[in-house]
This record gives sequence, structure tokens and C-alpha cells, in this order.
Amino acid sequence: MTDLYPVPPAWAARARVDAAKYDAMYAAARDDGEAFWAEQARARLDWTTPFTRVRDVSFDKQDFRIEWFGDGALNVSANCLDRHLAARGNEVAILWEGDNPNEQRRITYRQLHEMVCRMANVLRSYGVVKGDRVTIYLPMIPEAAVAMLACARIGAIHSVVFGGFSPDAIAGRIQDCDSKLVITADEGMRAGKAVPLKANVDEALKHCTSVETVLVIARTGTAVPMQAGRDVAYADAATSASISCASVPMSAEDPLFILYTSGSTGKPKGVLHTGGGYLLWAAMTHELVFDYRQGEVFWCTADVGWVTGHSYVVYGPLANGATVLMFEGVPNWPTTSRMWEIVDRHQVTTLFTAPTALRALMREGDGPVTRTSRKSLKLLGTVGEPINPEAWRWYHDVVGEGRCPIVDTWWQTETGGAMITPLPGAHALKPGSATRPFFGVAPEIVDAEGVVQHGAAEGNLVIADSWPGQMRTVYGDHARFFETYFTTYPGKYFTGDGARRDADGDYWITGRVDDVINVSGHRMGTAEIESALVLHHKVAEAAVVGMPHDLKGQGIYAYVTLNAGVEATPELRAELVKWVRHEIGPIATPDVIQFAPGLPKTRSGKIMRRILRKIAENQVDALGDTSTLADPGVVDDLVANRVHAA
Ligand code: WT7
Repeated sequence: MTDLYPVPPAWAARARVDAAKYDAMYAAARDDGEAFWAEQARARLDWTTPFTRVRDVSFDKQDFRIEWFGDGALNVSANCLDRHLAARGNEVAILWEGDNPNEQRRITYRQLHEMVCRMANVLRSYGVVKGDRVTIYLPMIPEAAVAMLACARIGAIHSVVFGGFSPDAIAGRIQDCDSKLVITADEGMRAGKAVPLKANVDEALKHCTSVETVLVIARTGTAVPMQAGRDVAYADAATSASISCASVPMSAEDPLFILYTSGSTGKPKGVLHTGGGYLLWAAMTHELVFDYRQGEVFWCTADVGWVTGHSYVVYGPLANGATVLMFEGVPNWPTTSRMWEIVDRHQVTTLFTAPTALRALMREGDGPVTRTSRKSLKLLGTVGEPINPEAWRWYHDVVGEGRCPIVDTWWQTETGGAMITPLPGAHALKPGSATRPFFGVAPEIVDAEGVVQHGAAEGNLVIADSWPGQMRTVYGDHARFFETYFTTYPGKYFTGDGARRDADGDYWITGRVDDVINVSGHRMGTAEIESALVLHHKVAEAAVVGMPHDLKGQGIYAYVTLNAGVEATPELRAELVKWVRHEIGPIATPDVIQFAPGLPKTRSGKIMRRILRKIAENQVDALGDTSTLADPGVVDDLVANRVHAA
């Protein structure tokens, strides 16, 4: 028996969507999607040219295309700013708290509009025009949102790179999309320590030829080397820039942004979203999943370097005229009460965070939570990875004092916004279940052959039809887009996740079924970590798999075969860990490195990852059939020398 948490009476009374309305809207979107989405898009967004075509979609190879509102035009920044000015220009758009708890900024819609116009004019003055790519490498400061919206205002395509990525990772992402301009800061601040952002950009740009200009925002004010002719102090450029800038009407299908994410093979891919469908999805899910009301304070803890930050720190809330809290720091600094202190200080009504953060805070006990009030909280949310029922109950009972529903939102960088999620006034909750599809989402569970499973079932999760927030292509590689998502189960979008549907029709995401691992809610391609390892001159071969990890959800377990004659020492192990951090960034830090004289391979040379996964999970009795291995003996050595995580 799973626990069931019915909709609290207060929520049943207040919510925009109750159970009956959910059913009616779900049916309307399914049965007449054209009418449903036309109405939503007209009601929620301001169009400079109204669309007449709602959707034009085919997932088939011959006429593969995904278009929504294709003949309409709009500007995303105007939808997030200008249209709010008359009614709520003086209301707070961004409530910012710095890493240092004494640093606060409150930015109204009017001020944000001016900041965005000014930066848009600066971008123009450095030659950025519609369609150009701009890379943004910033800490969690309001200027990150300003930079994104400034690009959107003039039709430039932004590519935000998370501030925790290394110079090599930045370089790869700049080269892939040929950015002409980079927006960064002198330094970022995290838990009282400075992060050398500008220095990382300098290092990255040694390998990039496309970048003509680097705009440097002063965050800490420390002096950083400035390369003449390339680097510009943003404050200097901004003083002469006008605070008015007309927004450029864009086709609904013009690109809005590229966001790199890891896949099961190759380098990270540039997931591309367009303006119309994406903004509609971000705005509508933000309003209905969180039942957002004017005046409430919405806090999504994600960094803008991830899609969660794009959709629920910037685009969704601002399109809805919300007040969004933006936090620069980390949950446990300077104290383990920090998150709850922020909730109290800013009277946060909705908190949207990741299971990994909750597990870390739960370890500190209830004291750091219960010493705060949290009375302002009405709704809680999670995203990024399956939440274990224990963490769910702690979040519900201790953080929310049993009063706040939890929306466990399943989605992906590719989907633009929440896809399977409870609506707080409509669905009874089950700890660990993402429950029901959002409007217009057609999930199916299929077996390995693609046969659709009905009723209670477990298998692979596909989405049978398009939705407005769907990614449109992999930047620069449309063939890879089709290949990655539409060939495993022809005619359907394959998510890469496994899922179970219970007898009530609720979905439970079981995790990735491909070679992608989920470390603290962040996606890592095992292939990427392997490539980083084999770049080291002492490494012959490497295979990386996920392992269970109490805090991170999954940890990184790397099997490494050294070159002949190289001695396997603890020092080398430490060196390789450092190497991977340097190549990709701290989020890719291996938890375990096991030196392996040989890897389990089939006679055709394919590594049998299934066996490596079992060993990493310490399920050495469940290795399965090893008889097809070229050398079954390697398995004994791997088992005998298994490394237990610290
Ligand atoms: C992968 C997508 C969604 C934005 C943040 C991550 C996993 C995400 C959940 C959830 C179980 C989840 C999936 C998915 N995932 N949310 N609520 N329950 N798993 O975006 O980096 O594109 O990762 O995160 O495995 O495929 P992302």
C-alpha cells in the first residue's frame, strides 16, 4: 500500500484546476488540440502577428517537422516585460538574495525593463544582430536574467553555460554554436568563496576563434585582466546606452535559445527551443502546476545554467508577471537553516527545489528547519530526479508541516517544461510518483519492441505526440535530433527514461534506461566522462557507470585500464579525479575509480556495461550470463577489486 495524500481542503477551494476541470481540460487538449492550443496561445501571450496555423507536426522520417503557431510572430522579452508595465510596473519582478545573506536587491518590472533595454542596446553596439549566438556564463545574479531577455529582445540566440563548467566545457559549447559574444562576470560567489568566471572564459577563448567581444559584469569588483580590443567592462559600455529599445518581432519558430545537455553518446548536444511554443509551455505550466497568484513569491532554486532556471526562474514566472526569488548561494551556507531563513525573510509562498538538496538538508535533522517559521509556504515542488519516499515525507511533514502539497514534476531539457506532474488542486499525491500528464501530453509505456502497454505496466516512457514546448532540433545537427529521439520507437518521442504506471493511472519514473546518469539532478553522459579519462596520457581505456549514492541519487563509478607499465597508485587515482574535474567541471567528479586490468567485452569488442553496473551496485550475485564475454576471467578481477565508495 502506498500512502495517499488527498488534495487538502484549502487547496480544493483555491486551485484554478480541480479534479473535474483537469479531466475536462485533458480531454479537450486530446480531442481537439488545435482549438485548445489556439485558445491558450491567444490568452496567454501577446502576438505582434496573430497565428492562423496552430500545429504542423510529423514524427515520421519522410516529412519530419515540428512547428507550432508557425505563421505567428511575437517577442519573448516584450511578453515578459513590456506588457506588464502598465498594470504592475512598480511591482517586484526579481527579489535577489546574494551569497552573503546581507546582500539583497529588489528589481521592479520597470527597472528590469530598463536594464534589459540597456543591455540589448549594448549588444547591438557590439554588432549582435538577429540570429547571432551569445554565450552567457554568469553567476546567479539578476544580470543573468537581463542578459537572456536582452538577447530575446533583439532576436539573438542565447546559450547559457552553467558557471560550474570548466574552460574546456565552455570552449566546446562556444565552438559548437559559433558564439560571437560572451557575457560573463569578474567572479561569482558561492559559500563565501570567489569563483574565477572571467579567468575561465580567458582560458576557454584560447581555443575559440568566433568570439569578438567579451562583456564583463562587475560582480565582486575584483580586478581581472582585460584583453584590449576584446574585453569590455559592461558598466562602461552601459553608461552611454539608452534605456529604450524596441523589441524585434520574431517568428514563433525562430530560435530563442540553445542549451547544451548530455546524451548517451558523443559530445553534449545543443537543445534548441523556439520562442512561441516554449514560452507558452513555460508560462502555462508555471501558472497551473504552481497555481501561481499575483503577489505571491515564487522561488525556484535552480541555477539559470539549467533548463529549470530558464523555465522557472526566468521565462515562465516573468511571462506571468510574477515575483520571482533568485538566490546566488548554496542551501547550507553560512548555516544549514539558510533555505528556511530565506523563505521567512522574503515570505516565499512556493518553493521548487531538487531531491538532492532535500536529502542533504534532511541529514542535518529537523532542528535547522523547525527553528524557522515557514508560515508563508503554501506549495512545494521537486524536479530533476526521482524523489525517494523518505525525502518526500520529510519535505511534506517537516518543511511543509503537512500543509503544503508537493508537485513532483517530471520533465527534461528537451521538453521545455513540466510534462508529468500533479496539479495541487486536482491530484491526490503519492510519495515518489509524478502522477499525471499535463494537458496535451500523451505518455505511453512501451516494451523493448515498442509494443504499447495498457493498464498497470512498466517499461520505457515515450510521448506519442508533440506538445508546444518540445525542442525543435539539435543545433547544427538536425539528423542527430531525429536519430536520438525518434528512431528507437518510430513515430514517437523517446524520453530515455523508464517508468511504471500503477493501477490508478499514476506514473512513477524509474530513471534513465540509457547511458546517461543523474548526479544530484544533473545529467551526465557516461561517454563524456570516459572521453575525458582517456585523454589522460596514462589511461588506455575507461568505462563509466552510475552507482547508488545516498545524497547525489547516482554517483559516478569509473573503471580505468592503464597503459602498459603504468603503476596503479592512490596518487594516480587522485590525479585522475582532478583531471576529470578540470576537463568537465566539479559536477563530473568521479566518486570511485577502480583500476581494471581488463574490461568485460563481447567477442565483437563491445563493453558489457550491464556487468559493470551490477558490480558498481554491489550486486555481484546478479551478474547474469557472462559466457558470451571474450574473456570471462576479467569479471573475477573486477569483483575482487571492487571499490566501496567513501
Ligand atoms: C532527466 C532530465 C527537468 C529539469 C531538470 C533536469 C530526470 C527529471 C524528474 C522527476 C524522476 C526526473 C529524468 C529526465 N528527472 N525530473 N520529477 N522524477 N526523474 O533536466 O538535465 O534534462 O534531465 O532528469 O531522468 O530524463 P535534465
